[in-house]
Amino acid sequence: MSGPPGATGPPGDWEKVYATSDVATLPWYNPELDSDIEQALKTHRLKGGRILDLGTGPATQAMNLAKRGFDVLATDISSSAIKKAKAAAKAAGLSIEFRVDNVLQSKLGPNLVDAIIDRGVFHVLPKDKRPIYVQTVHRVLRPNGWLFLKCFSIKEPGTWGPFRIAPSELRGYFREAFEILSIDEVVFQGNVAPPPKALFATFRRRDASPKPRPQKRARKRSTRS
Ligand SMILES: C[S@@+](CC[C@H](N)C(=O)[O-])C[C@H]1O[C@@H](n2cnc3c(N)ncnc32)[C@H](O)[C@@H]1O
Repeated sequence: MSGPPGATGPPGDWEKVYATSDVATLPWYNPELDSDIEQALKTHRLKGGRILDLGTGPATQAMNLAKRGFDVLATDISSSAIKKAKAAAKAAGLSIEFRVDNVLQSKLGPNLVDAIIDRGVFHVLPKDKRPIYVQTVHRVLRPNGWLFLKCFSIKEPGTWGPFRIAPSELRGYFREAFEILSIDEVVFQGNVAPPPKALFATFRRRDASPKPRPQKRARKRSTRS
């Protein structure tokens, strides 16, 4: 099995992956809602709000969230992923809003959702693009909104697949704009055995956007002689 694109190595072509694959064979495919996502929703008593499944791919998480009564918006950079996800949701009789959207050039408006699920997007972004991601999710979330983020852990050996991320790195990217509630060691459920070591982070959007540094005011010249 070859690794997913856009991770280690040159930026990949997600469109090609979804146009040419049966989504159920992809490494990250999990027909169930991940247990850590389910638990986090329960712990924080989230039900029925507007939720974004960012980088939805096969939309298994989006569909499970819709089944639990959430009003789901699901986005992905790949139009083929969205086309297949729409067909799967229709076949399951679920109402989900799907949009093609690149989180690094997002057209999503501000204060759009109460919560965001990111299962496997942040960890495919190169380091220099991650601050753009943080700005985007901050903008799209309502004040005090939740971000649940799952990524490969630094403890996962080897180089196959996405970037490995340490808890300290996550804190570095998110601490200014988000309250960091927890970063737990979990596994990434899917078609890979044994399941890769992962991190599951719970962040909460701070009320205000990070403020630009105030500019020093020019001193008034005294007109007195
Ligand atoms: C590892 S897959 C996970 C898919 C899905 N979240 C799941 O759990 O099954 C990563 C997903 O991120 C999407 N993706 C990659 N870069 C993206 C970007 N810049 N904006 C939006 N989605 C992106 C890919 O198309 C792919 O569906």
